[in-house]
Amino acid sequence: MRIFLTGASGLLGGNFAAVAARAGHEVTGVVGSWNGAPIAGLARQLRLDLTDLASIAAAVRAARPEAIVNCAAMSEPAQCEREPERAGALNVALPRRLAELAAELGVRLVHVSSEQVFDGTRAPYGVADPVAPLTLYGRQKAESERAVRAAAPGLGAAVRVPLLLGHSPGGRRSVHERLLRDWAEGRAARLFTDEIRQVCMADNLAAVLLELCGPAAPGGILHWAGAQPVSRYELGRAIAARFGLDAAQLIVPVRLAGTALAAVRQADLSLDLRPLSEALTTKPEPLAVQVARLAVPDDLRESLARLGA
Ligand SMILES: NC(=O)c1ccc[n+]([C@@H]2O[C@H](COP(=O)([O-])OP(=O)(O)OC[C@H]3O[C@@H](n4cnc5c(N)ncnc54)[C@H](OP(=O)(O)O)[C@@H]3O)[C@@H](O)[C@H]2O)c1
Repeated sequence: MRIFLTGASGLLGGNFAAVAARAGHEVTGVVGSWNGAPIAGLARQLRLDLTDLASIAAAVRAARPEAIVNCAAMSEPAQCEREPERAGALNVALPRRLAELAAELGVRLVHVSSEQVFDGTRAPYGVADPVAPLTLYGRQKAESERAVRAAAPGLGAAVRVPLLLGHSPGGRRSVHERLLRDWAEGRAARLFTDEIRQVCMADNLAAVLLELCGPAAPGGILHWAGAQPVSRYELGRAIAARFGLDAAQLIVPVRLAGTALAAVRQADLSLDLRPLSEALTTKPEPLAVQVARLAVPDDLRESLARLGA
């Protein structure tokens, strides 16, 4: 299948390029500011500013895709607050335009949304539960879902996904890469014992997105995540243990409840994965299975070895 992929240099997009190429698909992938090595798995790598909607339309039409996968976003909530207009262009106008193009070409659009559309007070969340975002990022993701459904009815899937683990092209994007970097640079991590997330590996999610490119795959609003909810603290301990590091030295347990951050960080974003979990070959993974696949980014090997990794 010919697939047009945005966000190919990101954590999820980089994994999608690799997973799709291994399955024999031909992926044209868009990068933005990425200036590292060519992204593995791409048949063609394009550099585009995805806020330029006219260039996107030309690139998509030229690629003649059989499916479009949107992994591009401004994915940091704090950056969205600082740059709301640019965030709106990437998080709402881009998926809307891609959905219009999918409808024009009669192909599927797989768009990535977020657990952040919920407020964290009523977990586990099902696909039909009302959204109640706490941040601009969450509001934009909710708006993107409505835009995709309106512009590409029957062709669009908007998948809400959790905090992601795994390996990003630059080695700096995922939870475990950030934690390892903190530890390598001598910073202990303060991790909440009462902030619950149903984390997922980016390569497992990429396999789900690829299945959703199939013409008979489910569409509309969907949920995907790992098999079990964990606190940030438990997650940090599991990551430290994976690399033989001493969690007692590297992690400070703290509570979210009662702090000012509780206004913008949800207590529990566990997701009910039906109907997707019943429709796909790819299965949600337990934390132990996810963590066993984690590796140390190359540039951190020496400093983490000094800590015992
Ligand atoms: N990571 C998580 O824990 C998480 C959790 C829930 C939902 N999500 C969602 O999952 C999706 C993928 O997230 P991710 O973590 O893979 O994001 P990421 O690592 O931050 O990657 C973002 C991608 O968007 C591209 N991009 C941003 N602005 C661009 C522009 N103006 N022109 C061209 N490309 C641009 C980036 O390209 P360059 O770097 O080359 O500029 C990069 O490839 C997003 O929709 C995100 O909101 C992520």
